Amino acid sequence: MANPLFRISLTINGQPVQADVPATLRLLDFLRYDLDLTGAKDVCGEGECGACTIFMDGKTVNSCLILAVEADGSELMTIEDLSHGKMLNEMQQAFVDYHSVQCGYCIPGMVLSGEQIIKDHGKPDRDTIREDLSGNICRCTGYQKIVDAIEFAADKR
Ligand code: FES
Ligand code: FES
Repeated sequence: MANPLFRISLTINGQPVQADVPATLRLLDFLRYDLDLTGAKDVCGEGECGACTIFMDGKTVNSCLILAVEADGSELMTIEDLSHGKMLNEMQQAFVDYHSVQCGYCIPGMVLSGEQIIKDHGKPDRDTIREDLSGNICRCTGYQKIVDAIEFAADKR
């Protein structure tokens, strides 16, 4: 029997999107494979690493744990919408300046979580940054430089 499709309408990076999706399609796969928004990464696939982080209705979420049909009516922002053309935003630039990027897999999620941390705390101390980043795993950098970058971006803003 054919897999039934469900119509969803949502806003992604400021653009209205409508699509017919199967009930089992993950939001992460919808973004990456249907819309070619490949910034959110598929790493653990079970809500442990934060590599698939996006904003949904103003809050960071793990898009690997959400079905595309559950995003119907929502407003999403992915890492692709953070820069202005080729101009990086302050957080992205801070990650570059502080050499916070190695393989890069975790970085889109780290950057968006950094944005959420500034939203939540304004100018957070390092312990707060570390605590709020606990849902984002990096296997390369040791975190020090990532925390440096978020602290700098928060100070600058
Ligand atoms: S891929 Fe979603 S949390 Fe790891
Ligand atoms: S830079 Fe490689 S996982 Fe974080």
